[in-house]
Amino acid sequence: MSETGSSKGRTTRRGFLTGAAAVGGSLAATGLVRPAMAESDPENQPPNVADWSKYLGEGVDARPYGTPSEYESHVVRRNVAWLTASPESSVNFTPLHELDGIITPNGLCFERHHSGIAEVVPSDFRLMINGLVDKPLIFTMEDIKRFPRTNKVYFLECAANSGMEWRGAQLNGCQFTHGMIHCVMYTGVPLKHILEEAGLKTNAKWIMPEGGDASGMNRSIPLEKALDDCMLAFAMNGEALRPEQGYPLRLVVPGWEGNMWVKWLRRIEVGDEPWHAREETSKYTDLMEDGRARRFTWAMDCKSVVTNPSPQAPLLHKGRNVLSGLAWSGRGTVDRVDITLDGGKNWRHARIDGPSFDKSVHRFYYEFDWNGEPLLVQSRAIDSTGYLQPTKNELRAVRGTNSIYHNNGIQTWHVRENGEVENVEIS
Ligand code: MTE
Ligand code: CO
Repeated sequence: MSETGSSKGRTTRRGFLTGAAAVGGSLAATGLVRPAMAESDPENQPPNVADWSKYLGEGVDARPYGTPSEYESHVVRRNVAWLTASPESSVNFTPLHELDGIITPNGLCFERHHSGIAEVVPSDFRLMINGLVDKPLIFTMEDIKRFPRTNKVYFLECAANSGMEWRGAQLNGCQFTHGMIHCVMYTGVPLKHILEEAGLKTNAKWIMPEGGDASGMNRSIPLEKALDDCMLAFAMNGEALRPEQGYPLRLVVPGWEGNMWVKWLRRIEVGDEPWHAREETSKYTDLMEDGRARRFTWAMDCKSVVTNPSPQAPLLHKGRNVLSGLAWSGRGTVDRVDITLDGGKNWRHARIDGPSFDKSVHRFYYEFDWNGEPLLVQSRAIDSTGYLQPTKNELRAVRGTNSIYHNNGIQTWHVRENGEVENVEIS
């Protein structure tokens, strides 16, 4: 059985219900859900004195680089076996159901590599700027860090996030259906400073960032975007980028599909037209019903998901419960999130709590009493442009069923009487 407790091809609702029921008991054993409270020890609880109050703890040098508590060891990135043909060209997923607030911890940011993690030696790192510039330049990391820098919180979402769900409910957990997203604070240099240093020729219209990994991944980006808010980031959440995220330098393309955020950056070419590279033609284009593909779908549309409850995070109590989730838009901030517990008959406003940054995730909560009845839980977000997150069927009506990328449809979770949750679709 795959780690997700799902298998390829179970696309009908009935088929899915059967599949989900079969794995209910094994989710805990595989570490996919939080260890049960039932494992607690009364000897350790009031009025007794707990073990940790009786003895000295470890000294300050025990953990030179801090790691989470051993009781949080189930909180890890996970892959889906049938999506992992080879680990070097693959993906794993952020455990969204275990996180709170808006920042993804560095060690939990999902990874997507086309040719594995490049091991760049920072002293040998060079960034070349060439093409339609007055003077082609080569920068070291030290050179880059001498330009004015900025701190910004942005989400990165892979265009393929939720892609497996186009044809029906498929993966049992928001980690797998929605976990190709992370949101961190980047520190870096606005790209415009570096381009201005090289001097742009008057016919410059496009840039092509290129990765230093074996895939040499490259994408065409219009110069307008490059000069607007793109960044050369060298730090995430206050420390150097992780190797998985492109150490020592990655391109940040706020609000636009993750594929454009080139990691292990080695070169930026300036040109007067797009390159039509592999990643923007045969991949990362949306195949429409008539067999033609949409050209250049850059912005990530407004989307949301309930992370708790969700298949890996069942409801544990009747009565007081906190529903929580994430909402984001590649076109601005999120103005409002609505929640339904009855499959869309009644909608209520969720409470957005925490900072509301442009092109960053927003955290929402909805406090409710659960009387043990089955629920059909959904969220829908509205962004600062007034755009409302569509249903999956509304998306299919426009784009057909050939698509993989840019699925921002409304997700449904079915909560059963026993609190278990499964991925379903309702029409
Ligand atoms: N850059 C390079 N050089 N090589 C890659 O394989 N993958 C892209 C993009 N940048 C990739 C890359 C894709 S498809 C995505 S979704 C994001 O990086 C993933 O970023 P992450 O690994 O930090 O989550
Ligand atoms: Co991607």
